[in-house]
Amino acid sequence: MENHEVHFKYIVFDNLSELSHEDQVLIDEAKGACSKAYAPYSNFKVGAAIRTGDKKIIVGSNQENGAFPIGQCAERVALYNMVHLVGRQPIDTMAIVVDNIHQKYPASPCGSCRQILCEYRKFQETPLRLLLTLANGGIVYEIDDVPDILPFAFDGSFLGF
Ligand code: THU
Repeated sequence: MENHEVHFKYIVFDNLSELSHEDQVLIDEAKGACSKAYAPYSNFKVGAAIRTGDKKIIVGSNQENGAFPIGQCAERVALYNMVHLVGRQPIDTMAIVVDNIHQKYPASPCGSCRQILCEYRKFQETPLRLLLTLANGGIVYEIDDVPDILPFAFDGSFLGF
């Protein structure tokens, strides 16, 4: 018998000013995307902004539907926008911003988005970093690489890929 453990580390910045200029710009873009969210049912607006390895920025926001389960998360909208706008590219960082009056701390991506982000991560050799914060400012979480928040994940290798 052997014990196996997985450790997860993340950084908490007190505010935006502790980040580099390019990260601040990316968060600003995610905030802008938030304003285009369609979230009349949850009132939980999410904006995501991707910075590709070659410094392009692509955004997305959550798009809900009266038939709840078919709504789409901001992260996935941003990823699919990237594929169509600039092609499938290595992603350096994704910033995720939440605009919701009840939310006191940054929200982290849902399980489905983690799974999909990991699928994109497989096609790049570099880490896919996340920055999480709120639209009205405050703390920022930095996660070094997406698989860190989906340990023991299922992926195509189980299917022989
Ligand atoms: N949402 C996202 O856009 N991203 C996440 O990672 C978590 C949840 C959206 C989905 C839904 O429109 C609203 O937030 C409330 O769950």
